[in-house]
Amino acid sequence: MTSISDRAVGSVSQAGHGWVSSSYGMLGGLRIGLMNRCDEADVAEVARILYEGLGDKLGVVFGSLNTFKRFLLASINCSMGVAAVLNERVVGFAGLKTESDSWIRPRVRELLKALGPFRLTRFAVLGLPLHYGPAPSEVLIDVLAVDGRFRGRGIGTSLIRFVLDYGRGASMRRVKLYVADRNERARRLYERLGFSVSRVVSIPFPYNRIYGIRHMYEMIQELR
Ligand SMILES: CC(C)(COP(=O)(O)OP(=O)(O)OC[C@H]1O[C@@H](n2cnc3c(N)ncnc32)[C@H](O)[C@@H]1OP(=O)(O)O)[C@@H](O)C(=O)NCCC(=O)NCCS
Repeated sequence: MTSISDRAVGSVSQAGHGWVSSSYGMLGGLRIGLMNRCDEADVAEVARILYEGLGDKLGVVFGSLNTFKRFLLASINCSMGVAAVLNERVVGFAGLKTESDSWIRPRVRELLKALGPFRLTRFAVLGLPLHYGPAPSEVLIDVLAVDGRFRGRGIGTSLIRFVLDYGRGASMRRVKLYVADRNERARRLYERLGFSVSRVVSIPFPYNRIYGIRHMYEMIQELR
């Protein structure tokens, strides 16, 4: 299976700062691209943005931003991470998965060191129902968040458009994501961008209570 992170994508070209830059941004100076290398400060910023945006789920699994940051530093694969950068700061992030590659590659030894046995077990048990895998020829947007100070300005839209082009450039068949039943605004955004609900996934007891989510909507956009 070809890893799409190895392949050139559409009109996207290599630029400085370790990013692949493009013209997806609607805000002046916004760059959207794959994180080619993992700079520790950038990863810390990604951790903060994800924890702020998805804290209801990540908080349950990790307990604190610091723990999540340690987890991310130990397991992120930046070549599958799409970042939105404004004035040299990361302001949004999308983590991608394909059948053969993932933005996150948990390695037990590093995780044990970073989290300790108690938190690692908690991660394995509590994180389980929220793990989704992509089918062959699918790009899964596993996580997506924009810095709270920059929402509603087109950055999420730009990140998603980048992923759609990324998938097309890699000859993938579709882009998929999951959104919680209570996140109606995000679901409407995805519908506006051409995604439609393909399946409703029930979250089993006791996870539905723990996370306060009854269903996740699986949403798909066909690329060809
Ligand atoms: C969902 C999210 C990534 C969208 O990014 P964004 O940069 O705000 O999106 P855009 O500016 O391109 O589009 C704005 C639209 O996003 C949707 N949206 C969802 N949550 C939003 C929020 N908290 N603030 C602003 N817009 C939000 C709305 O539909 C909005 O359109 P509207 O103002 O007409 O309702 C961002 O709001 C976010 O990080 N939310 C918290 C984390 C999250 O819910 N992630 C998605 C998990 S599936």
